[in-house]
Amino acid sequence: MKTGILSEITKLRELINRHDRLYYLSGEPEISDREYDALFEKLRKLEDENPELITPDSPTRRVGGEPLKEFRSVRHGAPMLSLDNTYSAEDIEKWAIRVMRKVSVSQGFTVEEKIDGVGVSLTYREGGLYRAATRGNGIEGDDITANIRTQRCIPLTLRGKNLPGTVEIRGEIFITLKEFERINGLRREAGDKPFSNPRNTCAGTLKLLDPSEVAKRRMSAFFYTSGVWEGEGRPRTQSELLELLSSWGLPVNMSYRVCSGADEVLNACEELRQARETRPYETDGAVIKINSLWEQEELGETSRSPRWAVAYKFEAKSAETRVEDVIFGVGRTGVITPTARLEPVEVGGVVISSATLHNFEQVERLGVGTGDRVLVERGGDVIPKILKVVEKSPDSGVITPPSQCPSCGGRVRKDPEGVYYRCDNLSCPALAIQKIIHFASPGAMDIEGLGENVAEQLYRKGLVKSIADLYALDIPDLMNLELFARKRAGNLIGSIDKSRGASLDSLIYALGIPGVGKHTAKILAERFGSLPALMEAGADELESVSEVGPVMAESLRSFFENPENREIIRRLASRGLDPVYRPGDESLKGMRFVFTGSLGSLTRKEAASLVEGLGGSASSTVSRDTDYLVAGEGGGSKLERARSYGIRVISEDEFLGMISEKKEK
Ligand code: IVH
Repeated sequence: MKTGILSEITKLRELINRHDRLYYLSGEPEISDREYDALFEKLRKLEDENPELITPDSPTRRVGGEPLKEFRSVRHGAPMLSLDNTYSAEDIEKWAIRVMRKVSVSQGFTVEEKIDGVGVSLTYREGGLYRAATRGNGIEGDDITANIRTQRCIPLTLRGKNLPGTVEIRGEIFITLKEFERINGLRREAGDKPFSNPRNTCAGTLKLLDPSEVAKRRMSAFFYTSGVWEGEGRPRTQSELLELLSSWGLPVNMSYRVCSGADEVLNACEELRQARETRPYETDGAVIKINSLWEQEELGETSRSPRWAVAYKFEAKSAETRVEDVIFGVGRTGVITPTARLEPVEVGGVVISSATLHNFEQVERLGVGTGDRVLVERGGDVIPKILKVVEKSPDSGVITPPSQCPSCGGRVRKDPEGVYYRCDNLSCPALAIQKIIHFASPGAMDIEGLGENVAEQLYRKGLVKSIADLYALDIPDLMNLELFARKRAGNLIGSIDKSRGASLDSLIYALGIPGVGKHTAKILAERFGSLPALMEAGADELESVSEVGPVMAESLRSFFENPENREIIRRLASRGLDPVYRPGDESLKGMRFVFTGSLGSLTRKEAASLVEGLGGSASSTVSRDTDYLVAGEGGGSKLERARSYGIRVISEDEFLGMISEKKEK
């Protein structure tokens, strides 16, 4: 009689475990929640009637016992390390090149999604879940076994033969976006404040002392690595490990890729970045690992992180914060720009505390005021900007253009065309300071050591009223500035001197003529050959230059007609700044180069600037217009692509030979 019941109970347990796997591992449930609940109730009833047949790994035992008073601290068998972060393709390449110098990377790399969840370590003994722990400080964590057991995505027993005696399995627990919405929906109905994001909700849930509360939330998990491994059967590679964990019934993220070189790794990272938008959970990057576990051991780890893996963090696209205040600045052309001072917030690994509001039309469009909660975005190197208002403050302060210039107190006027408000005062100090900063900036005269702070001091101390005064400075003058000792003063004088050799196009750009960027400056330099020639050019002559329209021509004319500007240019010339246009070596003009693999003696950046210096262009992707692919060691997919397009592939040596030949001509 009992044997019949035992076999029924066993069958029910297996069935429930199978449906758990279908639901959590393959995401393809075969039965409805109601049917699942019915199976569960049937099992519970049989166990209630036959308590001697209850085993700890029965699905009904996921929740049980009293709430805990506190979590016990437990020591991990092997430390739980964290990962070094990188933020650019270049850093990944550098990392790959570094590890390839130390090990042969015989099994390639794996690229996995970096799940934005909470790290856990599960210990299985003889196939049964023995303990679950949080990461804690990496050496010791909290024992959260009771909470973890409530989660149906975590198998209480592993499936399969030849299971290791004791094994630590590490991975990430997370909450899907859908479950996060469900939990917050319930909280709103109950009048509770919604949680801010899935990750914090997950971390908070794991720290609840009452497992029956934890059981009410549905968490998910992906496992990706192991700690202690006692017994046979340890795989040889990371990809085999993932397959093995999956075969044991653990949830594993199958979107990983095995890649053979840096190019493939970067492609896989890009693929995962794009997939990010469509995932039902949050990822915050990719994790790149050496596939061979033996090579991982060879490389070892620092006290904090392994040398065999690195995280490639995706830019956090945006973050929420509060506008504390608005300050007004004056640009080089007198335009008043509003900047929001923000409560500091981390966006993509960088703390930001201000964001540009561009102009007052933008302020109006956003409907933003001081005190409001806003969404800010940081993309690449650009200044952070405000995307939208998330929540108006009840006493939101209206942002209006100032009537007086924040720098000189002069009158502020609205542009006839509408958008801009400008300081009317031609001798406004802010304007003068911005002109000095622009003059010294990279791409202009490139005066190292002359930034915002120094420009401001030079102006306020009366040492430099206009850019021409820079060339009359000497070391004792500079020693009057704050934080300037003789050495720093000498360095700055040195960089100012060096800038006397700047090219004509750099000087034209550095003058800060409204509307004249680097590109136009170059065209003007080519066409007119010297500053005096450009200054005397009439409107027609200017307009005959391709890319110079009537507005630009007018801007140039009014700049050069202004007596103050003419005086500045005269003084610059008298101090030796009167360059003439020197046509450059254009022997690679129109030729397109792509570099792949690791070049021995050059970085890709250096190689690209060599090409650009000779009038050619360098790109990172092979297309049908590419003329040459320069292949270093380990070039992968680009090489195949170039071959399939019939593009000439040359070695680094051939490339260098080609360049020096051209240079000699
Ligand atoms: S491997 C010793 N793989 O990111 C290396 N970690 O910032 C162990 N994470 O502590 C980590 N997804 O909690 C690895 N596919 C993945 C991951 C991942 C998320 C977490 C993990 C780690 C943290 C490091």
